[in-house]
Amino acid sequence: MATQAVNIAGVSTEFPVLGRDPELGAVTYLDSAATSQTPQVVIDAIVDYYSNHRASVHRGVYPLIIESTELYEGARDRIASWLGSTPQETIFTANATSALNLVAHSWGRANLKQGDVVLVTEMEHHSNLVPWQLICAERQAELRYIPVLDDGTLDLNVYGQLLELSPKLVAVSHVSNVLGTINPVAEITRLAHGAGAVVVVDGTQAVPQLPVSLPELGADFYAWTGHKAYGPTGIGVLHGRRELLEEMPPFISGGHMIKQVFEVESTWTELPGKFEAGTTQIAEAIGLGAAVDFMTALGMDAIRAHEQALTAELLRRLEEIPGISVHGPADAEARGALVSFALAGAHPHDIGEILGREGICVRTGHHCAQPLMRRYKLGSTTRASFAVHNSSADIDRLIDGLHTVRRTLQL
Ligand SMILES: Cc1ncc(COP(=O)(O)O)c(C=O)c1O
Repeated sequence: MATQAVNIAGVSTEFPVLGRDPELGAVTYLDSAATSQTPQVVIDAIVDYYSNHRASVHRGVYPLIIESTELYEGARDRIASWLGSTPQETIFTANATSALNLVAHSWGRANLKQGDVVLVTEMEHHSNLVPWQLICAERQAELRYIPVLDDGTLDLNVYGQLLELSPKLVAVSHVSNVLGTINPVAEITRLAHGAGAVVVVDGTQAVPQLPVSLPELGADFYAWTGHKAYGPTGIGVLHGRRELLEEMPPFISGGHMIKQVFEVESTWTELPGKFEAGTTQIAEAIGLGAAVDFMTALGMDAIRAHEQALTAELLRRLEEIPGISVHGPADAEARGALVSFALAGAHPHDIGEILGREGICVRTGHHCAQPLMRRYKLGSTTRASFAVHNSSADIDRLIDGLHTVRRTLQL
């Protein structure tokens, strides 16, 4: 799919929703960590599939199906090579949650046994936590936590001690969706491998924000989601090490994932089809391929530089507001493009609602990270997050909005 070269300064015009009819209400979008907005090139790729090439994939030999299969597999090729993976090791799923469930249920069920230890961190999103709780309960394995320090980083000393338990698996997020912390995944993986553990990384917040090289990280599994990376909803990706994927049993079974089906048993097709049962997300994969082209055209280094500068600016500007406390690393270099904060005397729900009246979109709540909230003795926080289309003007509006919150709540 052809891509349009764009530069970050003018990129907001690429997102139709940001210029929507003013009668619908203006949008200052600071919630890309929840879901990103969609650039026109991604919408065009989806419309092009539905308008010109719609057919199933891999299930026929007529020209339309060859076109749709080429678009679908072409998207997979570009997504894989973008992160340094291979098409066979790049599995399309419904989202990050289903990618992580695939690992927990397939790898976990085949490899965990009574008394085994699984390590997760206190900052995991529920998607990289609850599947491990369930599989540990089923296999009678033990779930242990790598703690988070007050500064929002992982306690790597305790991690070192936990590795002495010879865990079977370490599950860690690349970038925390609450604290913004960029975890040292390459180092965590090196240490885990030294202890004989398999490493599963939740890269959901990292992939749209940072240059990611899977070979450099070295993890065994890396999961992410399309709708936070300028792609459509309903698609995620699991990258896995080929040897492990080949040994693992299927997770979801049915059509497409088989080689031969006999009356009582079946054999499985090659990777990645073995883990893509049924008719998969064709339009969504094609859209995600266009999203990857969009990010590639901008350059991940440029995206990171732009969003890191905005994050540093927001951290500075929040100091203007009396009663604000920020969670996570103090330095923008150590965090992704998001900032969670509390305003003394204001409930995040009220903050979100008052900002919302001004068209400012921020996330409020527990961010699907309740153990982390408990660790910080918080019920919920307010989170502002950035994407390529944001600018200092958005930060000005947020800061003005927070002054309005203080006035409205008479703080
Ligand atoms: C760090 C992290 N992991 C996983 C997820 C789950 O993503 P999805 O709902 O697309 O599966 C999210 C979404 O909020 C997230 O922020």
